[in-house]
Amino acid sequence: MKVAGKILVVTGAGSGIGRAVTLEAVRRGATVAAVDLNATTLAETADLAAADGRVWTHALDITDRAAVEALPGQVTERHGAVDGLVHCAGIIQPFAKLRDLDYAAIERVFAVNWSGTLYLTKTFLPPLLARPEAHIVNVASMGGFLPVPGQTIYGASKAAVKLLTEGLHAECAGTNVRVTVVFPGAVATNITANSGVAIPGADGRAAARTQKITSPARAARDILDGVERDAYRVLVGRDAKLMDLLYRADPRRAASLIANKMKDLLRG
Ligand SMILES: NC(=O)c1ccc[n+]([C@@H]2O[C@H](COP(=O)([O-])OP(=O)(O)OC[C@H]3O[C@@H](n4cnc5c(N)ncnc54)[C@H](O)[C@@H]3O)[C@@H](O)[C@H]2O)c1
Repeated sequence: MKVAGKILVVTGAGSGIGRAVTLEAVRRGATVAAVDLNATTLAETADLAAADGRVWTHALDITDRAAVEALPGQVTERHGAVDGLVHCAGIIQPFAKLRDLDYAAIERVFAVNWSGTLYLTKTFLPPLLARPEAHIVNVASMGGFLPVPGQTIYGASKAAVKLLTEGLHAECAGTNVRVTVVFPGAVATNITANSGVAIPGADGRAAARTQKITSPARAARDILDGVERDAYRVLVGRDAKLMDLLYRADPRRAASLIANKMKDLLRG
């Protein structure tokens, strides 16, 4: 689906990948209903797109099912229709092994990454099925196909997003709704702070490494290119592409490579 002239709902639009997708979609000629929990950063995104004037903000919590269910009506009332959902909102878990993670942290990650994704996908499906063409994009993670110690629950929530989205792709065959799942590797955003998570052992070397990782702007271009060419899946970044190949060739070796990289971050 070409993005120009379409009305897209973009979640997580207050920061990182969702903000970059919002700005890139507007640049390509779309109108964006931008969704985020954080009203302040959401308004900043709208300001950044102010010259284009095609961003409307909806501050809400995607774990609030009633608020999500009210969204299609609000968007349609203002713009006449909705053509696509690009769902980026998500959080990581505290960097800790499963044995050290309490249920509150586990349930919070699943509420946002799983229930939030389910509510958005299920709510927007009927209005999108009624459009001449439409697209649903869910952002999973490289951690949704590859186990990352210290982010095991996050990975499990993103694996659920992966299969929900791939299952939906199969179920939408023969309809006008296209479906794409996105697997970003490391992207330079504030997801750690935004998730309320500290990085144990973060130091200058870690900061230097972040210089080389994929930018949110690049991730946004890859995601919207994926929409425009109807990609089944989008791997964002060299790391995600490499680990996808390695995981499929030798899952144990791929898992142990990542486990070695994570050693410094995990105590005990
Ligand atoms: N940054 C990475 O390295 C990376 C890697 C793989 C996957 N991802 C995924 O990409 C997506 C975007 O991440 P990002 O790095 O841009 O993070 P980010 O923290 O920069 O942006 C996420 C946005 O989602 C919003 N959000 C969080 N919980 C919400 C809720 N309950 N309701 C509404 N909005 C909520 C936050 O306020 C924030 O503005 C996430 O799903 C993340 O899991 C990120």
